[in-house]
Order: sequence, then C-alpha cells, then structure tokens
Amino acid sequence: MVGPQPAAASPVEPQAPGTYAHTIAIANLAESASNAIGANGLLARVGALYHDIRKLKKPQYFAENQAKGRNPHDKLKPTTSAAIVRNHVLEGLELAEEYKLPRGVMPFIREHHGTGPISYFLEKAKERDGMPANSAEFAYPGPAPRSIETAIVMLADGAEAAARVLHDPTPQKIREVIDRIVRQRIDQGQLPGCADHSRASSRR
Ligand SMILES: [Fe+2]
Repeated sequence: MVGPQPAAASPVEPQAPGTYAHTIAIANLAESASNAIGANGLLARVGALYHDIRKLKKPQYFAENQAKGRNPHDKLKPTTSAAIVRNHVLEGLELAEEYKLPRGVMPFIREHHGTGPISYFLEKAKERDGMPANSAEFAYPGPAPRSIETAIVMLADGAEAAARVLHDPTPQKIREVIDRIVRQRIDQGQLPGCADHSRASSRR
C-alpha cells in the first residue's frame, strides 16, 4: 500500500499519467514534510497516494491529464465543469468504500481541498454570467483539514500543482510559489490555528 503505485489505481493508471505523476510527487513531499515536523510521515504518504483516486475514472477532465488543445470542459457550462471537479472528492469517498480502503485514508480524500474555491471555473462563470447566485457550487465540499497530515497533503497538493506550471522553475521561484500557496490557504481559512506557522515562515 505504501509503494509508488496505489493498488486500487493500477488498472487505470495508464489513462491518468498526469494524476499519477502528481500523486507520487506529493506523496514524497508530504512524507518528508511530516517526518520533518514529527508528524506521521507514513500516514501522510498513504493518504497522499489515494487522495485523488476518483480522478482516475474521469482523467481527461483534469488539467494534468489533458493533451494540449484538448479540453472537454470547453464544451461544458462552468457549473457543470465545477460539479465534475467538486465531485472528485465526494465520488472519491464512494470509490474508497467500494475498494474497501482503510478508514484512515478517507480524511485525505475528503479534506485535501478543504472548502476552497474552484477558482478557474468560478472566474469563467463570472466572466460569462456575473457573480453566481450559488457560490457553493464553485467551492469544494470540505471540511477543512482536521489533522496535521491532511493539512500537509493540502499544501503539497497546491504547491506541486502551482510549481509544475512555472515556465522557468528556479529554487527561488519555487520557494515563492510555496509561500504564496501556504498564505492563500491560511487566508481562505483552510488551516485554522496556523497563523503562527505563517509568521514563522515569513521570518525565513
Ligand atoms: Fe484533488
């Protein structure tokens, strides 16, 4: 279960190479970060390996698996796109039940986006129709992380996705991306009680 390839994901892994690479990267990041602060690195690693399990059944709807110029969201309304993205959390939990994954994995699926906005499609909806009447349609279902390990997976997830699209990644630029993601998650209220960590990181 802790190897590079999640057992339940293996049948569909070739269809979701982007999600697979992203998953391995954040499992490594989350394990190292957890161990570095005395949290449970093994738990963070296993949770990270399964956090996006539902994406493996609809991989083409997630940016990391899309070939250039082929995005099925181009034909969908922003509300439909947001529902697909939002549902990778809810349906991921159902899939985890179906695969009989250990209970300890569930919080990583449920909490890794917290209650954060589905920003890309929220902006698209605003451009098309103005402010949506029901903003909950453009937010993840949550809850916000309730453990250090799920908080670390949330941060690794956001930082890896943002760093991956840098055109000219340098250690300095990657550091800035990580700081931005951590601050953004704190400002969104996803890391209650983490204000002290924010001050500590800005002193570096
Ligand atoms: Fe996700």
